[in-house]
Amino acid sequence: MLCVNGQFNIDCDYVGGDKSVSHRALILAAIADGDSVIRNLSLCDDVAATCECLRVLGADIRLDGATAYVRPITVPISGVTLNCRNSGTTARLLAGLVAGLGVRAKFVGDESLTSRPMERVLDPLRKMGARFNTGSGYLFESLGGKLTEITYRAKVNSAQVKSAVLLAGLFADGETTYTENIPTRNHTELMLRGAGADVSVDGLTVTVRKSTVHALNLDVPRDVSSVAFLVTLALLCDRKARFDGVLLNERRTGFIRVLQRSGADITLENVTERFGEPTGDIAVKPSRLKPSYASETDVCDAIDEVPLLCCIAAVTQGRHEFHAVDELRRKESDRVRAIQSIAVKLGATAEVSNGSLTITSEGCKAVNPHFNCFNDHRIAMCAVIMALVCGGGSVDCAPFDVSFPNFLQAVGVTPYKFALIGENVSDSRSPVLMSYLASKANLCCSYVTVSLPRDVSDERLLETINSFDGVNVTMPFKTRVAALLRADVPSVNAVGKRICPCSTDGCGIVKSLTANGIDFANKPIWIVGAGGAAEECIRVLLKYNCAIRVINRTQAHADALTEKYGLSKQIDEPYGVLSFVPECEFERNIQLPDSVGFVFVAAYKGQSGLRDKASQRVIKYVDGLEMLYHQGAESFALWTGTEVQSDYDGFLKYLADCDG
Ligand code: S3P
Repeated sequence: MLCVNGQFNIDCDYVGGDKSVSHRALILAAIADGDSVIRNLSLCDDVAATCECLRVLGADIRLDGATAYVRPITVPISGVTLNCRNSGTTARLLAGLVAGLGVRAKFVGDESLTSRPMERVLDPLRKMGARFNTGSGYLFESLGGKLTEITYRAKVNSAQVKSAVLLAGLFADGETTYTENIPTRNHTELMLRGAGADVSVDGLTVTVRKSTVHALNLDVPRDVSSVAFLVTLALLCDRKARFDGVLLNERRTGFIRVLQRSGADITLENVTERFGEPTGDIAVKPSRLKPSYASETDVCDAIDEVPLLCCIAAVTQGRHEFHAVDELRRKESDRVRAIQSIAVKLGATAEVSNGSLTITSEGCKAVNPHFNCFNDHRIAMCAVIMALVCGGGSVDCAPFDVSFPNFLQAVGVTPYKFALIGENVSDSRSPVLMSYLASKANLCCSYVTVSLPRDVSDERLLETINSFDGVNVTMPFKTRVAALLRADVPSVNAVGKRICPCSTDGCGIVKSLTANGIDFANKPIWIVGAGGAAEECIRVLLKYNCAIRVINRTQAHADALTEKYGLSKQIDEPYGVLSFVPECEFERNIQLPDSVGFVFVAAYKGQSGLRDKASQRVIKYVDGLEMLYHQGAESFALWTGTEVQSDYDGFLKYLADCDG
């Protein structure tokens, strides 16, 4: 979860080399007739995936900052696994390359990539003679096969499919011809030609013959798809901005054309050619925007920027139309659905009919919107831009490194970096809580969950902790971290660069009980559980002079705490019961004596026998979520030096908004 306030800065120097060109430069260099140098290579995860796969196939790639020195594949290595991670371009372009090299390779990827269509690329390659297996749990497996020419007409508008066929065609007998229905990005043909391969273009048809690719010496221009986020921010916040050395290939600037038509003052200046690719500057001036319209060709030329155009539409008064958007459903997420979700959060409507998307907006900006980003890097960046445009807001994930590693620096956002570390913490509500607190404090913060195995080494545990500005620690690491950091408390849940390791659990308990009007001082109490949070609760309740008995499934642990703190062995009529164990048979079997006036259950998720009993008998009940709120607010205050005025109900509303 990332929460931003309205502060930003636009800095083009953080935009790296174009991702599409970088993939292709590495691939061509890997099959070139000599050593290549590629400068300003994109350092994003997608390109790293291509780089790694090419190494697995036998290329020698050395990276020095953003400069790649590539010694080509001599004998391709067969029988390998290629991990394409999140990158469709890696999978599809390398499908063509591997078919050309005639090697066996199993292609795998992350969950998103595994669910994306690959048949579109296997179909033409099979027709050329390449053999592939498909099955579940992987993308496809190439089995080799001798390649011969084909004449192929595109079934989908995809530069990736075209590129795969062209790369395979370089190794096939005869003349391979690929004809498109509408033009898609043409970097592969431009770069192949630039590197001396036998490639010709005639209208919508590209022809390739078996030929040699010469070594490359190339400077990759800035990524126009990354610059697009900064252009949007400048336009929507009325800033003047200039971006230099950007890739301005017409097949990539549909975004700019659509905006210019709707009144944006954007000019392209100093345009020259680098390796066949137009490159130049983009100048943006404050503009009054009108409704936008994007035809099928515009959408194809802005295929990765349509979500941004739709975001702009969602805050620009009028009715905006985007045609032939179906392909967007097959990207890293269903981007049509993602756009609809963002548009609604921004207060607009977004309707799809016959593959066209219509956005209708009153031109208003939302207040502190929360966006769900479907684990999709471009959607997450759109969401951050819109949160900034709205003067603050939050996003549920931040996978920016997939395409734009320095995205946050480029928009001048420097969040506090916080995390929750535990064994199984992916479901925690702490990220939403911290985002809520940050929005209240008008601060910028990211809060992630890090699940580590119980037997993680001390070194790795400490290294993880030290990579954040502040960390909450939970089961089963609270006491271990306390010992490792030599804390002066036995159990630690809050650690930070500027604070002594401590526990805010006690504060969370006291505040949540007090907020519910429970007077627990001097009362007899049962504590259920004997872990770190239970111990912290004992420590704090002893300060309030409570008589305490520990009840635990493993009696020895209860006995140890009883002895350590001199607790009561027998309390038959407790006033309060505070449970720190998850639901289990032991927990379900605990009976509540008639004396009980309140029940507290720390586990705020899932079932609880004690909670059920409290509700049947109408006993005052305090939920662990309320404790989570107060201990989190305390941690946040320690880490940031900013205390947020207590508002648990406000948090519940925010939580509902995030979940909805
Ligand atoms: C790309 C082509 C496009 C684009 C992707 C990169 C490329 O995909 O969405 O981000 O580098 O060839 P399709 O070819 O599937 O449209």
